[in-house]
Amino acid sequence: MKKIKNTLFSNKPVTINDNSLIMAIESSCDETACAIVKGGREVLANVVASQIKTHEKFGGVIPEIAAREHLEAVNVVVEEAFKQAGVNGNDITAFAGTVGPGLVGCLLVGMNAAKSLALAYDKPFIGINHLNAHLAANFIDTDLEPPFIALLVSGGHTQIIEMKSYSELSIIGETIDDAVGETYDKVARLIGLPYPGGPKLDKMANEGNPQAFKLPEGKVDGYNFSFSGLKTASLRLVKSFTDKNLPLPLADICASFQECVSSTLYKKVKHALEETGYKQVVLAGGVAANSEIRRKIFSLQDLGYKVFAPQMKYCTDNASMVASAAFFFEHTFDNIDVEVFSRV
Ligand code: KG4
Ligand code: ZN
Repeated sequence: MKKIKNTLFSNKPVTINDNSLIMAIESSCDETACAIVKGGREVLANVVASQIKTHEKFGGVIPEIAAREHLEAVNVVVEEAFKQAGVNGNDITAFAGTVGPGLVGCLLVGMNAAKSLALAYDKPFIGINHLNAHLAANFIDTDLEPPFIALLVSGGHTQIIEMKSYSELSIIGETIDDAVGETYDKVARLIGLPYPGGPKLDKMANEGNPQAFKLPEGKVDGYNFSFSGLKTASLRLVKSFTDKNLPLPLADICASFQECVSSTLYKKVKHALEETGYKQVVLAGGVAANSEIRRKIFSLQDLGYKVFAPQMKYCTDNASMVASAAFFFEHTFDNIDVEVFSRV
């Protein structure tokens, strides 16, 4: 049970318990999302408006255009969430919003919409770190409790996190250069797959031979990662065909790339589990939707570990995970004055 005291008008302490309904808004990148979650685990409404169609034309997210689209979509997703859950603003215990990391203009739209709702209904506002939200996606519809080791793989981050309790969370390893999702998207673009390339590369990889080409795994100490060498090696591999005007063996390149990434992640996670002695592991972030990364991490079950990964719809950006983080995490920004931030 958690007490929050930041209602602006009455300043009355609000208790969050298993019956509490939290409405959250997520707008850190190219999805405008709103959700209502009961007791941190039960999703009553999950609405996502994706901007993929808009950004496809440019081959990536254009921040100004994204912010404008959030502005157009935010009221629509909020209304739809109220309708899906069959509740109104007075039934909500607290309003949450992602405050960072992400695109500043985009974050401002969602966070201020959530703050406005909190002010209008005289309820607390809870600011959420987007990365904590990705972790919290694992609490939805499960009985997961800390302690655990988490592998967080998204468009901008690649981290191994030790979560001892709801208030003790530390990053024990991270990428020293590119994030996994970023590497997927760059290599996908290189071989001509349209934005967002990650899921398309994943699909194509399933039709190829993962042993066709040997690509280098980044050699970094401890639980850290490096993917820039793999990116350069993939570029060279592609060039070795295009220079000779040969057709690209697309499926084999994708499968070999996916094998390299997934085995690097698997080895580091296994190492972290062995050294720390944790018995539970969770997968989080947009790239947690990847078929081969999921398969390898779930194979840790054969070694006696309990493995969790969010359902597909809660892997990529959504607001249910934000509401769940607002419910479970001790370190939130329970302050109406909090500002957005672009990087951790
Ligand atoms: O977590 P997310 O929705 O946004 C960030 O917080 O960054 O993650 C988006 C990233 C993109 O790079 C996208 O290409 C990647 O996740 N992604 C995938 C797959 N699905 C999404 N990468 C590889 N395989 C997938 N199936
Ligand atoms: Zn994300």
